[in-house]
Amino acid sequence: MTRVLVLNGPNLGRLGVREPEVYGSATFTELAAQVAAWGSDLGLEVDVRQTDDESELVGWLHEAVDARTDVVLNPAAFTHYSYALRDAAAQVTKGGLRLVEVHLSNPAAREEFRHNSVIGGVATGTVAGFGVGSYRLALEALA
Ligand code: DQA
Repeated sequence: MTRVLVLNGPNLGRLGVREPEVYGSATFTELAAQVAAWGSDLGLEVDVRQTDDESELVGWLHEAVDARTDVVLNPAAFTHYSYALRDAAAQVTKGGLRLVEVHLSNPAAREEFRHNSVIGGVATGTVAGFGVGSYRLALEALA
């Protein structure tokens, strides 16, 4: 089975209690179970992780490169300013693997500071604005 790393950045562990009007009512545990179920429907073995720690996220991207694993990445707030994460994401796609940037909300329709993604320019593609469905669309693209 093809493996996919589904990586989630800061504050996404707070789903369910964090601004449900923006991010929905599903908890991160529920999101992870749903994403794993969609993955198995699509013939993918999905490993869903979340961290608030930039260096851990960078390390997971290095792991994807070394293990030759495609990535679905919700960089959360790191989307908008983390050049370290961008450089790590670039190693994934320049290494011939695919990386889909996902967002639950549509950052382009929100505050100005969310309009820029430093990740988008090195991603294979981006899906945003479909709630947890953004992850399903990303997995479908990879499958
Ligand atoms: C987010 C959008 C980001 O702007 C925000 O910082 C997040 C979540 C999303 O999934 O909609 O934490 O990545």
